[in-house]
Amino acid sequence: MDTIRYTLVFLIFIHVVFTTKADYANFENDEVWQKRAKEANSAARQAYQPNPMSVTDNLNNRVHRSVEGRNNTRRDLKNNIFGACMATNPIDQCWRCQKNWDKNRKKLADCVLGFGRKATGGKAGKIYVVTDPSDNDLVNPKKGTLRHALIQSEPLWIIFAHDMTIRLAEELIMTSNKTIDGRGAQVHIANGAGLTLQYISNVIIHNIRVHDIKKGNGGLIRDSLNHYGQRTQSDGDGISIFGSTNIWIDHVSMSKCDDGLIDIVEASTAITISNSHFAQHNEVMLFGASDSYKKDQIMQITLAFNHFGKGLKQRMPRVRYGFVHVVNNLYTRWEMYAIGGSHGPTILSQGNDFTAPNNPFAKEVTKRDYATESVWKNWVWKSEGDVMRNGAFFKQSGNPKHKFASDSMIKPKPGKFASKLAKFAGPLKCIKNKEC
Ligand SMILES: *[C@@H]1O[C@H](CO)[C@@H](O)[C@H](O)[C@H]1NC(C)=O
Ligand SMILES: *[C@@H]1O[C@H](CO)[C@@H](O)[C@H](O)[C@H]1NC(C)=O
Repeated sequence: MDTIRYTLVFLIFIHVVFTTKADYANFENDEVWQKRAKEANSAARQAYQPNPMSVTDNLNNRVHRSVEGRNNTRRDLKNNIFGACMATNPIDQCWRCQKNWDKNRKKLADCVLGFGRKATGGKAGKIYVVTDPSDNDLVNPKKGTLRHALIQSEPLWIIFAHDMTIRLAEELIMTSNKTIDGRGAQVHIANGAGLTLQYISNVIIHNIRVHDIKKGNGGLIRDSLNHYGQRTQSDGDGISIFGSTNIWIDHVSMSKCDDGLIDIVEASTAITISNSHFAQHNEVMLFGASDSYKKDQIMQITLAFNHFGKGLKQRMPRVRYGFVHVVNNLYTRWEMYAIGGSHGPTILSQGNDFTAPNNPFAKEVTKRDYATESVWKNWVWKSEGDVMRNGAFFKQSGNPKHKFASDSMIKPKPGKFASKLAKFAGPLKCIKNKEC
């Protein structure tokens, strides 16, 4: 009896160790976290779109309208003549190139497209100005710091008083209904731990630089006004999204983190990553971390108008189980492979521009990086309108006869437009009273 019981305990222990990432090992016995997990679960079910093609079609439609419908407006005429502010995709055209952007910051929240389309961040709340880059007290963070802003219960639109580099002493555990808006300052989150979005919803992260993120040691960290707890080591992801929904990451640059740049795991969904620039990193984006975690089928993620640049090796993204719309991105580097998947994800790759690196072994966009044939069989995926340069090629995986409901699909803007659509990927230099 006892042996069996110990074996069971041991097996459960193994299960926990190998299916959750280091960050999160300590929350399982904590009532507060258990309640949040439950709420996150129902938020994800609500956010899930049973007909994902309606979202992909809508985005493609908007791109067509934005590229074709822009030749007769005054603003465009001016832009073309003076080479001034130029917004080249429908997300940017919604808010950029307006002199009063600083007085009208929350306009941004109306602009997201793709699966993260419902993210409004802190739109309903006050503006919070971060004035202090320090991060010295993880349990009672000082007023004016980013950590203090991000643990508040109310919705907040967080901006920065001046240029700053924030070195996080440990992972920063965010709360729901927040916007981090780095416009108007050069904001780096660097040389310390990264951002953690765990069991929360409704977040916008905009116009910041996240780089050189290190593993954290863990310890006591506050995760809301009413609660703090013991955390184990953090992995060193730039942005870690765990069981969270309605997220939009836009005009961010990311490079050189100890673990992934962006990891999306544990049944997170309704996420858009757009206009961002990625460089100098091995494992760029992991969507679904565990072979056995089938709940990641709920993942729906859009990657649009991003630039995958210098020094990148693999996982742009690497997907298990979920649905990912990879559309109108510019890929100028991958040393191993660009897109990969296993365990039945659906990857719709449309209108991307892939320029293969000069490495003859790395021209394949898709890769079976370690899985066996049987788990790859169900990989459903389609490439449409992608441009292949320098010998880049796709390797057919999955069932070629899969019906993709393609009859009702709106064709993407072709890949030759991707470099224009992603032209302003990464943080923008926004100056008060000037077009951004
Ligand atoms: C813009 O120009 C294209 C090609 O010249 C044309 O087909 C399209 O109708 C124009 N759009 C508008 C809104 O005028
Ligand atoms: C976030 O805001 C929404 C809408 O105002 C609200 O219903 C929800 O409870 C908020 N979430 C949290 C965790 O405070």
